[in-house]
Amino acid sequence: MTMRRGGAFVALLLTLFANTTPAAATDWTAEEMDALRSLWIGSLPPVPADPSNPVADDPRAVEFGHRLFFDTRLSANNAIACATCHKPELAFTDGKLVAEGIATATRNTPTLLGIAYSPWFFWDGRKDSLWSQALGPLENPVEHGMDRAGVVAVVKHDADYRRRYTDLFGALPEQSDAADLARAFANLGRAMAAYERKLVPGPSRFDRYVAATLKGELPEPEGRLTPDEIEGLRVFIADNKGQCMRCHNGPLLTDNSFHNIGSDIESVKEEEQGRFDGIRLALADEFNCLGSYSGVPVAACAELRFAKQSSEELLGAFKTPTLRGLAQTRPYMHRGQYSRLETAVRHYMAQPQSSIGKSELEPLALPQSIFDQIEAFLLTLDSPVAAPDELRMPPRGR
Ligand code: HEC
Ligand code: HEC
Repeated sequence: MTMRRGGAFVALLLTLFANTTPAAATDWTAEEMDALRSLWIGSLPPVPADPSNPVADDPRAVEFGHRLFFDTRLSANNAIACATCHKPELAFTDGKLVAEGIATATRNTPTLLGIAYSPWFFWDGRKDSLWSQALGPLENPVEHGMDRAGVVAVVKHDADYRRRYTDLFGALPEQSDAADLARAFANLGRAMAAYERKLVPGPSRFDRYVAATLKGELPEPEGRLTPDEIEGLRVFIADNKGQCMRCHNGPLLTDNSFHNIGSDIESVKEEEQGRFDGIRLALADEFNCLGSYSGVPVAACAELRFAKQSSEELLGAFKTPTLRGLAQTRPYMHRGQYSRLETAVRHYMAQPQSSIGKSELEPLALPQSIFDQIEAFLLTLDSPVAAPDELRMPPRGR
């Protein structure tokens, strides 16, 4: 059922402006309308609570985390901050094939748009909380190249940081007992996570289109889709066509799960097994939900405890990325193997076999030209960060 008002008037407009078809004139079936609503940013719930992070929504932690995120002193060469690789102007990516910190990493930098909605972090999901994720790059020799003692020392020796830390978490450890140090390090991760929770996408052109269409109205100019974009959208949501929503679903266009799509992983020197290794690493992580620094009971860790392990289907599986912000997040996929969106979308046309494990993709019987329309649709999802401007810039006074 379509909720179209003034059909005759729309039809008249259609004939008058045939090249700029007002999109509300599209006849969507009830099922398609449900799909549109499910992808719409208006269906995004509030950022989920994180019981293992008591300061997750504390504005003081957001401010402190914002500072830490942009601080190059938290690196071995004083030149690398989180924001070096997660640049706000590139939807928190870096435009590089694979990340470059102190040295060259093996994976592409993912966007942080809507990251707080994910239960797993990194392409292989080897971290199970946003705060424990933040500790990874700090101690990674090719990224920040620090150790926890060095990171905590920076905070200790900066009067402003020291005050901010103490306000939120109490005194910093004086003698560096390993467990006290780990606790302080984890707390700094919690402050950074509070900042990252603010990086929620705002409405895109697609969302304005859906908002109007759901109301049965003609979209305003900033919510119009071209006929090609509409066709791409139709194929994207159809089970018997693009099947993209098998994995790219919900308002962030990700199921937050892991799939083998036959990505090219052969040429990586190290063994790259994707989620197969990721879940093992998550279970072994001292900062995971079950560890002594999480502060939550075992019962709160069902996601980790009952996650699928050692299963063949995890081989070569990577986390489904969000598709919001694609105009800024090139190159694409976990290894940056596609420099252009066009070639990334054509991955699904080529349907390559996986070099490890088995690809889950089903053959698609679609003409080539459809892939350009899908690409056109994907670009309508380009979403600005909904956070206040100052959170998208380096903090003042630094
Ligand atoms: C040298 C570049 C670099 C730096 C510096 C860096 N990151 Fe990343 N970040 C990456 C790469 C590459 C990945 C994906 C790595 C992987 O999956 O193995 C990533 C992944 C992430 C993720 C997971 C995203 C997802 O979709 O699962 C988050 C969150 C994140 N980084 C936040 C941070 C924070 C916070 C800092 C600072 C403490 C930081 N990053 C520093 C490059 C960087
Ligand atoms: C079986 C699950 C699955 C299906 C179906 C699927 N995708 Fe993906 N998609 C993924 C995964 C997983 C990745 C990341 C793979 C990697 O990095 O190696 C991905 C990556 C992408 C990327 C790159 C995004 C980025 O930021 O790097 C685009 C674009 C994309 N998919 C579009 C589509 C389109 C269009 C369709 C439908 C024709 C589709 N996907 C169908 C799971 C899927």
